Amino acid sequence: MKNIVILISGRGSNMQAIVDAAVPEARIAAVVSNRADAAGLAWAAERGIATAVLDHKQFDGREAFDTALAALIDGYAPDLVVLAGFMRILTAGFVTHYENRLINIHPSLLPAFTGLHTHERAIAEGVKFAGCTVHFVTAELDHGPIIAQATVPVLEDDTADDLAARVLKEEHRLYPMAVRLFAQGRLRIDGGRVRVLPPQ
Ligand code: GAR
Repeated sequence: MKNIVILISGRGSNMQAIVDAAVPEARIAAVVSNRADAAGLAWAAERGIATAVLDHKQFDGREAFDTALAALIDGYAPDLVVLAGFMRILTAGFVTHYENRLINIHPSLLPAFTGLHTHERAIAEGVKFAGCTVHFVTAELDHGPIIAQATVPVLEDDTADDLAARVLKEEHRLYPMAVRLFAQGRLRIDGGRVRVLPPQ
């Protein structure tokens, strides 16, 4: 059984999808947010999951916040830390501390459209397919070995909200699947690539 800590900053719908998937090999040890008003916190607490808040505004800089955040997370002895709409740029020290056990979901087909406003930018570029990516986190923002991706079409009259909703549906399918593969010990990082091993 793998211990999982999920980090959120807001709605937490990906966190909910992971919890609802009830991965047999995983236990959600805690949901942690940098914002006390993150809607996902109440949802998790209602389900008896431990929750914690660490307000980044109370800290003097990223290093201090990330050091305190790692101490808080480590209190739950995580095998895996899952970023689920955690809208903070992480320091290299934090990322190194959780090397190969820190994953993120990003609402684009990486390496295209790193950063914010992915759907607006995809529509402006005229791409015909968009999607989402689950990847191991490295010090470079929205980079790192890719675990899984899902695609959706970009339709003629899509607004950014239309596309975001279509992608989010895929996120909710993809992220629990990636968490399960990790929990089953089936992800092997091989250089910059991730190999998915067959079930044992
Ligand atoms: C998701 O679409 C996720 O991919 C995105 O924020 C949303 C969070 O929604 N993450 C990023 O943009 C990270 N760079 P949620 O709180 O409902 O899971």
